Amino acid sequence: MKNTTPHWIVMIGLLLAVLAGVAYKFIVLGNTVEGEEGRTAVVLSPMERQAVLGEMRFLLETTQVIVEALANEDLDAVEAAARPLGSSAIATVDFALRAKLPLEFKKLGFGLHYAFDDIADMAKERKPVKEIQIKYAQTMNNCIACHSMYELPLVK
Ligand code: HEC
Repeated sequence: MKNTTPHWIVMIGLLLAVLAGVAYKFIVLGNTVEGEEGRTAVVLSPMERQAVLGEMRFLLETTQVIVEALANEDLDAVEAAARPLGSSAIATVDFALRAKLPLEFKKLGFGLHYAFDDIADMAKERKPVKEIQIKYAQTMNNCIACHSMYELPLVK
């Protein structure tokens, strides 16, 4: 009788390689293509893209509210603005959309939401305004990092 074991080993090896490739594509790369200016383009449906850009505009608005509230030393207003953007906001991210986002994008995005938790907590604990300002300045590095890496082209 012929010994077929080596074939099985090769087949299992190939299967694992394919699975690793699929996992890499879906978990690490997301639904991406090469973008402009050395950035990676995340390809979303027009509705998903609108949802993400809408959240972005809300992030900018919240930034304005927080900067002003810190200048006025109004920590209740800081907490009220930061809390809704905390980690509770992650649960609202649709799973189909999540699958299209690259791993690094999610790290920066989720990291941003955890930072908003921290900012809301710092305001609640009445930490010095200057400390919260420094925390917010550091948090905004996530905005800068993500914008320099990714774009959201309009694909019809
Ligand atoms: C995880 C990635 C990521 C993070 C973090 C992030 N952004 Fe964005 N943002 C994007 C991408 C991608 C775009 C689309 C850019 C493009 O297509 O050129 C965008 C677009 C925007 C826009 C334009 C919205 C529109 O209607 O066109 C604003 C404003 C914005 N971001 C603000 C912010 C602010 C403020 C922060 C931080 C508090 C932030 N973003 C953090 C990824 C991110």
